[in-house]
Amino acid sequence: MAVIALKCPSIEVAVVDISVPRITAWNSEKLPIYEPGLDDVVKKCRGRNLFFSNEVEKNVAQADIVFVSVNTPTKSSGLGAGKAADLTYWESAARMIADVSKSSKIVVEKSTVPVKTAEAIEKILTHNNKGIEFQILSNPEFLAEGTAIADLFDPDRVLIGGREETPAGLKAIKTLKDIYAHWVPQERIICTNLWSAELSKLAANAFLAQRISSVNSMSALCEATGADVTQVSYSVGKDSRIGPKFLSASVGFGGSCFQKDILNLVYICECNGLPEVANYWKQVIKINDYQKSRFVNRLVSSMFNTVSGKKIAILGFSFKKDTGDTRETPAIDVCRGLIMDRAQLIIYDPQVPEEQIMKDLLMPKCDWDQTGSTIQIGEETVWQSVKVVHNAYEATKDAHAICVLTEWDEFKSLDYKKIFDNMPKPAYVFDGRNIVDVGKLRQIGFIVYSIGKPLDPWLKSEMPAVA
Ligand code: UDX
Repeated sequence: MAVIALKCPSIEVAVVDISVPRITAWNSEKLPIYEPGLDDVVKKCRGRNLFFSNEVEKNVAQADIVFVSVNTPTKSSGLGAGKAADLTYWESAARMIADVSKSSKIVVEKSTVPVKTAEAIEKILTHNNKGIEFQILSNPEFLAEGTAIADLFDPDRVLIGGREETPAGLKAIKTLKDIYAHWVPQERIICTNLWSAELSKLAANAFLAQRISSVNSMSALCEATGADVTQVSYSVGKDSRIGPKFLSASVGFGGSCFQKDILNLVYICECNGLPEVANYWKQVIKINDYQKSRFVNRLVSSMFNTVSGKKIAILGFSFKKDTGDTRETPAIDVCRGLIMDRAQLIIYDPQVPEEQIMKDLLMPKCDWDQTGSTIQIGEETVWQSVKVVHNAYEATKDAHAICVLTEWDEFKSLDYKKIFDNMPKPAYVFDGRNIVDVGKLRQIGFIVYSIGKPLDPWLKSEMPAVA
């Protein structure tokens, strides 16, 4: 919304939320989220044509277009628990819009939603306010965190789905298209029917996640055979039909979208009697879980099959660099795996505050596919096993091993010689993001594991014959 305000000075944008602390933060000097470039955009427009307010109903009543960007988490109980999207917030937003509207409105789905949500929303709106015309559009967002502003300034495409079959639907599509046309070239604005737009968002995230699971599955085979996953990715990505992006092996993908959207896709397939398709996509998540547990197993088996009481430095906790977001970060599962093996963790992340790290590690993990139950590590165990510190040198001092779990740039240029000198020997580095210079670190004396790379001779001899 801030970018729309920046690019369209003639349009007044009001961002509303029921949370007072959140709106207060958006109106303050310190914005509530870390996103490179966002401060600048907000500062340029705030108070001009961009406003943050708790007056939800008043602003919605006055608006011509309402973008609904509420949370659509995975349902945690009831029908479809663990897979279906929870549309509680969406439904109450739609009811509120119907209640307060006195003039026609275009209601835009910005949140990622299951296919056919627009139909349900349409019913809620039109049945609760009979005198007013509502047009529903689906306008899914494709920005990635950390590069949000650049992605919005220069998007690969903008997708607008609407009721193309009616003149009023076409008019609504054009109204939204005209807004984006202020800065996005016409040919990059794709207009489709509602269902195609809704499904395209789920499909795009599923395809992206699938690429990562594909390369991560290859990384396991690389380690077993002596191939180097970076070389394999490079060679594969040179095929113009495949392309080079999103082929970096990692400890696993995280973020608020991939897992949630695939689970949702799986649920929709099951509901539509397509179990084979559902199972196909489920596998993308299973490989992601496998990759995280494979990393923990590799670490423990390399360190004489025990990390009990050993200090492990965790470098990076967010799900990717340049964000403080920890939703579904692989670091949660890796840290929990190490805590279960009774390691002592010293965690450092440049952007994630201590209280967020503790909250994430204390939260029970749902494992719906396996047992339908939750795996809980005692709160006391978490408190006793984790310390959060403020820099990488403090984290690594006296540590038996270092785990790189987020690819923050600062981890590439650390003084690893100094770090090595402050660690008991053998000193290990387990790089879950392939950012360290393996050759240089081995020269210093480290035993280095890097995802999908030829194994250190030391690690080979420590691996159990059968995994
Ligand atoms: C994603 C989609 O990219 C975006 O289009 C959508 O709107 C929201 O979901 P985001 O979750 O912000 O964006 O981050 P993204 O850059 O896609 O990374 C997701 C995860 O995949 C991260 O944990 C990242 O580290 C991991 N990843 C990405 C890899 O492991 N390897 C890669 O090659 C790329």
